[in-house]
Amino acid sequence: MIEILNVDHFCQAVPDLEKQSDFLQKVLGLLPSKISHQTDFDNQVLSIPGNSRLGWELMSPNTNKSFLHRFLDGPRGPGLHHMTMRVQSIEKTKNQLIELGYEPWGAEGNVVYLHPQKGGQGFLFQFYESNDEDVWYDTEPFTDNEKNTIGIKSVDHIAHAHKNVSGLVDWYQKTFGFSPYNGDSDNTSSGEEFKIGLLQLPSKQLKIEIIAPAHPESFVQKFLNERDTSVHHLTLEVEDWDRAIAALDFHGIRTFGERSNVGAEPLWHEAFIHPKETGGVLLQIFWQAKPGLWE
Ligand SMILES: [Fe+2]
Ligand SMILES: [Fe+2]
Repeated sequence: MIEILNVDHFCQAVPDLEKQSDFLQKVLGLLPSKISHQTDFDNQVLSIPGNSRLGWELMSPNTNKSFLHRFLDGPRGPGLHHMTMRVQSIEKTKNQLIELGYEPWGAEGNVVYLHPQKGGQGFLFQFYESNDEDVWYDTEPFTDNEKNTIGIKSVDHIAHAHKNVSGLVDWYQKTFGFSPYNGDSDNTSSGEEFKIGLLQLPSKQLKIEIIAPAHPESFVQKFLNERDTSVHHLTLEVEDWDRAIAALDFHGIRTFGERSNVGAEPLWHEAFIHPKETGGVLLQIFWQAKPGLWE
């Protein structure tokens, strides 16, 4: 098992970094760091408001030959490119990868990868050795008090689409030591459209939701046909529902799939923002009156 300290950031690859950065700042309320220019790509890390202590990295190609074009033109692009987890020691992580039967990929300095097609279940995982004093963006929790932003409270979960829920639940437990959310069963269930499994990190920083098609016509099956096993959506909890909806209206961003609990007093709301509006990532936003109500 790979011993994870926490999730450090996730990274989105897009064709136009400045346009995407504008969306993340003006609509989602993220705080930017400086854009840096690498040999093959430009990148920028933004801090996510609320209490998740996560960075959101952006990468875009700056040459015709950049490796990022393959991703951007492939079935998963543009969209989430990798997720980075902080570990105590890269040497130890390499050995743990080998023990799990995977080849440590792209090892360089304080970084090593688990390749999407060679064990990563369709997603690129980066492991990054760093200590607390050596974090490269602002990880202190902060409240977003800007105008016309949705007001993120936390990143609740990342949803991973796969054909087999219990297989992937097992995989996350064996590979990273994630545990089933809320209890000791495997926490999987089945709805009409999809099957679901919910896991959380040992640090409880965020959850991983695994979704699989419940039947061949399911939207999850359509997603798997188009984009293959990969991240399906990212879920953000907002501080104030009316503010979030007003901010999206202000920017002319439409939502779909709105749902609320029934009853006089609202207990939770949810809605989705299409990947076309977000640079390739389906965003789910929700509000809940009390922690834990929405699940
Ligand atoms: Fe990264
Ligand atoms: Fe979800």
